[in-house]
Amino acid sequence: MRIDILTLFPGMFPGYLNESILQKAQDLGQLEVHLHNIRDFAAGKHHVTDEPPFGGGGGMLLKPEPIFDAVESLILRQAQDKVFNLQSSEEKDQRLKIEDMPIILLTPQGRPFSQTIAQELSQHERLVLLCGRYEGVDERVRQHLVTDEISIGDYVLTGGELAAMVIVDAVTRLLPGVLGAEGAAETDSHATGLLEGPHYTKPAQFREWTVPEVLRSGHAANIARWRREESLRRTWQRRPDLLLTAELDEADRWFLGKLAGENS
Ligand code: ADE
Repeated sequence: MRIDILTLFPGMFPGYLNESILQKAQDLGQLEVHLHNIRDFAAGKHHVTDEPPFGGGGGMLLKPEPIFDAVESLILRQAQDKVFNLQSSEEKDQRLKIEDMPIILLTPQGRPFSQTIAQELSQHERLVLLCGRYEGVDERVRQHLVTDEISIGDYVLTGGELAAMVIVDAVTRLLPGVLGAEGAAETDSHATGLLEGPHYTKPAQFREWTVPEVLRSGHAANIARWRREESLRRTWQRRPDLLLTAELDEADRWFLGKLAGENS
Protein backbone atom coordinates (compact mmCIF):
# COMPACT_ATOMS: atom_id res chain seq x y z
CA MET A 1 0.00 0.00 0.00
CA ARG A 2 1.13 3.53 -0.75
CA ILE A 3 0.03 6.33 1.59
CA ASP A 4 0.55 9.99 0.68
CA ILE A 5 0.33 12.36 3.64
CA LEU A 6 -0.26 16.08 3.08
CA THR A 7 0.74 18.18 6.07
CA LEU A 8 2.27 21.48 7.11
CA PHE A 9 4.55 19.53 9.48
CA PRO A 10 6.16 16.56 7.72
CA GLY A 11 8.89 16.53 10.41
CA MET A 12 6.37 15.11 12.90
CA PHE A 13 6.18 11.75 11.14
CA PRO A 14 9.56 10.01 10.72
CA GLY A 15 10.07 9.18 14.41
CA TYR A 16 6.93 7.12 14.52
CA LEU A 17 7.05 5.73 10.99
CA ASN A 18 10.64 4.53 11.22
CA GLU A 19 10.33 2.24 14.24
CA SER A 20 8.93 -1.18 15.02
CA ILE A 21 6.10 -2.65 12.92
CA LEU A 22 5.75 0.36 10.62
CA GLN A 23 9.44 0.20 9.71
CA LYS A 24 9.13 -3.56 9.24
CA ALA A 25 6.14 -3.08 6.91
CA GLN A 26 8.25 -0.69 4.81
CA ASP A 27 11.18 -3.10 4.79
CA LEU A 28 8.83 -5.86 3.61
CA GLY A 29 7.63 -3.63 0.77
CA GLN A 30 4.05 -3.69 2.13
CA LEU A 31 4.00 0.02 3.02
CA GLU A 32 5.31 3.11 1.27
CA VAL A 33 4.72 6.50 2.93
CA HIS A 34 5.24 9.73 0.99
CA LEU A 35 5.20 12.98 2.98
CA HIS A 36 4.29 16.22 1.21
CA ASN A 37 4.57 19.68 2.71
CA ILE A 38 1.46 21.69 1.78
CA ARG A 39 3.60 24.83 2.03
CA ASP A 40 5.59 23.70 -1.03
CA PHE A 41 2.40 24.13 -3.06
CA ALA A 42 1.61 27.64 -1.76
CA ALA A 43 2.25 30.47 -4.21
CA GLY A 44 4.19 33.68 -3.61
CA LYS A 45 7.36 34.58 -1.86
CA HIS A 46 5.91 33.82 1.57
CA HIS A 47 4.14 30.56 0.70
CA VAL A 48 1.04 31.56 2.66
CA THR A 49 -1.14 28.55 3.52
CA ASP A 50 -3.70 30.08 5.90
CA GLU A 51 -6.01 33.10 6.04
CA PRO A 52 -8.68 34.42 8.44
CA PRO A 53 -12.26 33.31 7.69
CA PHE A 54 -14.60 35.46 5.64
CA GLY A 55 -17.24 37.03 7.89
CA GLY A 56 -14.89 37.28 10.85
CA GLY A 57 -14.54 35.01 13.83
CA GLY A 58 -11.37 33.75 15.43
CA GLY A 59 -8.66 31.53 14.08
CA MET A 60 -7.20 30.83 10.69
CA LEU A 61 -8.27 28.48 7.92
CA LEU A 62 -6.17 26.51 5.47
CA LYS A 63 -6.50 28.08 2.02
CA PRO A 64 -7.90 25.89 -0.75
CA GLU A 65 -5.35 26.48 -3.54
CA PRO A 66 -2.24 24.78 -2.07
CA ILE A 67 -4.33 21.79 -0.97
CA PHE A 68 -6.00 21.37 -4.37
CA ASP A 69 -2.60 21.76 -6.07
CA ALA A 70 -0.97 19.19 -3.79
CA VAL A 71 -3.72 16.59 -4.23
CA GLU A 72 -4.07 17.25 -7.95
CA SER A 73 -0.34 16.77 -8.43
CA LEU A 74 -0.75 13.28 -6.95
CA ILE A 75 -3.79 12.51 -9.11
CA LEU A 76 -1.99 13.80 -12.19
CA ARG A 77 1.03 11.64 -11.45
CA GLN A 78 -1.24 8.67 -10.96
CA ALA A 79 -2.97 9.42 -14.29
CA GLN A 80 0.42 9.62 -16.02
CA ASP A 81 1.31 6.25 -14.53
CA LYS A 82 -2.01 5.01 -15.84
CA VAL A 83 -1.30 6.06 -19.43
CA PHE A 84 2.09 4.42 -19.18
CA ASN A 85 0.70 1.28 -17.62
CA LEU A 86 -2.25 0.94 -19.95
CA GLN A 87 0.19 0.00 -22.66
CA SER A 88 0.99 -3.10 -20.65
CA SER A 89 -1.14 -6.20 -20.34
CA GLU A 90 -2.52 -5.31 -16.91
CA GLU A 91 -4.83 -2.66 -18.31
CA LYS A 92 -7.85 -3.61 -16.25
CA ASP A 93 -5.98 -3.83 -12.96
CA GLN A 94 -4.43 -0.44 -13.52
CA ARG A 95 -7.78 1.14 -14.30
CA LEU A 96 -9.08 -0.22 -11.00
CA LYS A 97 -6.16 1.26 -9.12
CA ILE A 98 -6.77 4.79 -10.46
CA GLU A 99 -10.23 4.90 -8.99
CA ASP A 100 -8.98 3.28 -5.85
CA MET A 101 -7.48 6.30 -4.06
CA PRO A 102 -9.61 7.68 -1.23
CA ILE A 103 -8.67 11.27 -0.33
CA ILE A 104 -9.29 11.51 3.41
CA LEU A 105 -9.47 14.68 5.47
CA LEU A 106 -8.63 14.21 9.16
CA THR A 107 -11.05 16.31 11.14
CA PRO A 108 -13.08 16.09 14.36
CA GLN A 109 -16.16 16.41 12.13
CA GLY A 110 -15.42 13.17 10.26
CA ARG A 111 -16.97 9.73 10.67
CA PRO A 112 -15.63 8.01 13.80
CA PHE A 113 -12.61 5.79 13.06
CA SER A 114 -13.02 2.12 13.94
CA GLN A 115 -11.51 -1.29 13.27
CA THR A 116 -14.10 -1.78 10.52
CA ILE A 117 -12.90 1.38 8.78
CA ALA A 118 -9.27 0.29 9.21
CA GLN A 119 -10.16 -2.99 7.48
CA GLU A 120 -11.98 -1.14 4.73
CA LEU A 121 -9.01 1.19 4.13
CA SER A 122 -6.51 -1.69 4.16
CA GLN A 123 -8.16 -3.04 0.96
CA HIS A 124 -7.02 -0.02 -1.08
CA GLU A 125 -3.81 0.19 -3.09
CA ARG A 126 -3.38 3.85 -2.19
CA LEU A 127 -4.62 6.39 0.37
CA VAL A 128 -4.21 10.14 0.58
CA LEU A 129 -4.37 11.59 4.11
CA LEU A 130 -4.88 15.33 4.41
CA CYS A 131 -4.02 16.81 7.81
CA GLY A 132 -6.09 19.84 8.78
CA ARG A 133 -4.63 22.55 11.05
CA TYR A 134 -5.79 25.71 12.80
CA GLU A 135 -9.57 26.17 12.77
CA GLY A 136 -9.92 23.82 9.80
CA VAL A 137 -9.98 23.98 6.02
CA ASP A 138 -11.86 26.05 3.47
CA GLU A 139 -15.22 24.35 2.86
CA ARG A 140 -14.48 23.91 -0.86
CA VAL A 141 -11.83 21.33 0.04
CA ARG A 142 -14.58 19.31 1.73
CA GLN A 143 -17.09 19.78 -1.03
CA HIS A 144 -14.97 19.32 -4.13
CA LEU A 145 -11.77 17.49 -3.26
CA VAL A 146 -11.90 15.00 -0.42
CA THR A 147 -13.81 11.73 -0.72
CA ASP A 148 -13.98 10.93 2.99
CA GLU A 149 -13.59 12.62 6.40
CA ILE A 150 -12.42 10.73 9.48
CA SER A 151 -12.22 11.65 13.17
CA ILE A 152 -10.23 9.57 15.69
CA GLY A 153 -12.41 10.62 18.62
CA ASP A 154 -14.56 13.27 20.19
CA TYR A 155 -11.81 15.66 21.19
CA VAL A 156 -9.96 18.38 19.32
CA LEU A 157 -6.27 18.02 18.49
CA THR A 158 -4.10 20.84 17.24
CA GLY A 159 -4.07 19.19 13.82
CA GLY A 160 -4.71 16.01 11.87
CA GLU A 161 -1.12 14.68 12.08
CA LEU A 162 -1.64 12.37 15.08
CA ALA A 163 -4.90 11.17 13.52
CA ALA A 164 -3.05 10.37 10.28
CA MET A 165 -0.46 8.36 12.25
CA VAL A 166 -3.23 6.48 14.05
CA ILE A 167 -4.75 5.52 10.70
CA VAL A 168 -1.40 4.52 9.17
CA ASP A 169 -0.70 2.32 12.20
CA ALA A 170 -4.12 0.63 12.40
CA VAL A 171 -4.18 -0.02 8.64
CA THR A 172 -0.57 -1.20 8.32
CA ARG A 173 -0.90 -3.98 10.89
CA LEU A 174 -3.68 -5.45 8.74
CA LEU A 175 -1.51 -5.69 5.60
CA PRO A 176 -0.42 -9.22 4.62
CA GLY A 177 2.62 -10.54 6.50
CA VAL A 178 3.16 -7.41 8.61
CA LEU A 179 2.30 -8.96 11.98
CA GLY A 180 4.23 -12.15 11.32
CA ALA A 181 1.89 -14.91 12.46
CA GLU A 182 -0.90 -15.26 9.92
CA GLY A 183 -4.18 -14.26 11.52
CA ALA A 184 -2.55 -12.42 14.44
CA ALA A 185 -4.78 -9.39 13.83
CA GLU A 186 -7.91 -11.49 13.68
CA THR A 187 -8.26 -11.99 17.44
CA ASP A 188 -7.51 -8.36 18.39
CA SER A 189 -9.94 -6.46 20.52
CA HIS A 190 -12.60 -5.04 18.15
CA ALA A 191 -11.60 -7.29 15.22
CA THR A 192 -14.07 -9.86 16.52
CA GLY A 193 -16.61 -7.26 17.60
CA LEU A 194 -15.65 -7.98 21.25
CA LEU A 195 -12.86 -6.87 23.57
CA GLU A 196 -10.06 -9.37 24.15
CA GLY A 197 -9.97 -11.17 27.47
CA PRO A 198 -6.93 -11.40 29.79
CA HIS A 199 -3.57 -12.85 28.68
CA TYR A 200 -0.75 -14.23 30.83
CA THR A 201 2.88 -15.17 30.29
CA LYS A 202 5.64 -16.71 32.46
CA PRO A 203 6.06 -17.01 35.39
CA ALA A 204 3.03 -19.15 36.26
CA GLN A 205 3.20 -17.65 39.75
CA PHE A 206 4.20 -14.02 40.31
CA ARG A 207 4.05 -12.91 43.97
CA GLU A 208 0.82 -14.47 45.22
CA TRP A 209 -0.89 -14.24 41.82
CA THR A 210 -1.18 -17.40 39.74
CA VAL A 211 -2.12 -17.94 36.12
CA PRO A 212 -5.58 -19.58 35.72
CA GLU A 213 -5.24 -23.35 35.76
CA VAL A 214 -7.11 -23.87 32.49
CA LEU A 215 -4.45 -21.95 30.51
CA ARG A 216 -1.80 -24.39 31.76
CA SER A 217 -3.92 -27.49 31.15
CA GLY A 218 -2.97 -27.93 27.50
CA HIS A 219 -6.63 -28.71 26.74
CA ALA A 220 -7.22 -26.70 23.53
CA ALA A 221 -11.04 -26.78 23.54
CA ASN A 222 -11.28 -25.73 27.21
CA ILE A 223 -8.78 -22.94 26.63
CA ALA A 224 -10.74 -21.66 23.60
CA ARG A 225 -14.01 -21.71 25.59
CA TRP A 226 -12.41 -19.94 28.56
CA ARG A 227 -10.97 -17.25 26.29
CA ARG A 228 -14.30 -16.71 24.60
CA GLU A 229 -16.09 -16.39 27.94
CA GLU A 230 -13.50 -13.97 29.36
CA SER A 231 -13.77 -11.90 26.20
CA LEU A 232 -17.56 -11.80 26.66
CA ARG A 233 -17.16 -10.96 30.36
CA ARG A 234 -14.78 -8.07 29.66
CA THR A 235 -16.99 -6.70 26.91
CA TRP A 236 -20.06 -7.00 29.12
CA GLN A 237 -18.28 -5.14 31.96
CA ARG A 238 -16.57 -2.42 29.92
CA ARG A 239 -18.32 -1.99 26.57
CA PRO A 240 -21.81 -3.53 26.75
CA ASP A 241 -22.75 -1.46 23.67
CA LEU A 242 -20.54 -3.76 21.56
CA LEU A 243 -22.69 -6.79 22.47
CA LEU A 244 -25.56 -5.31 20.47
CA THR A 245 -23.69 -5.80 17.19
CA ALA A 246 -21.24 -8.66 17.96
CA GLU A 247 -21.84 -12.05 16.37
CA LEU A 248 -22.95 -14.30 19.22
CA ASP A 249 -23.84 -18.00 19.21
CA GLU A 250 -26.07 -20.03 21.52
CA ALA A 251 -23.27 -20.73 24.04
CA ASP A 252 -22.31 -17.02 24.13
CA ARG A 253 -25.91 -16.03 24.90
CA TRP A 254 -26.14 -18.64 27.63
CA PHE A 255 -22.93 -17.31 29.22
CA LEU A 256 -24.15 -13.70 29.05
CA GLY A 257 -27.44 -14.76 30.62
CA LYS A 258 -25.45 -16.39 33.44
CA LEU A 259 -23.38 -13.21 33.95
CA ALA A 260 -26.52 -11.08 34.10
CA GLY A 261 -28.08 -13.51 36.59
CA GLU A 262 -24.97 -13.42 38.84
CA ASN A 263 -25.00 -9.64 38.86
CA SER A 264 -28.69 -8.94 39.34
N1 ADE B 1 -7.94 17.07 13.90
C1 ADE B 1 -8.19 17.67 15.09
N2 ADE B 1 -8.84 16.86 15.93
C2 ADE B 1 -9.04 15.68 15.25
C3 ADE B 1 -9.69 14.46 15.57
N3 ADE B 1 -10.27 14.27 16.75
N4 ADE B 1 -9.69 13.50 14.65
C4 ADE B 1 -9.12 13.70 13.44
N5 ADE B 1 -8.51 14.83 13.06
C5 ADE B 1 -8.46 15.82 13.96
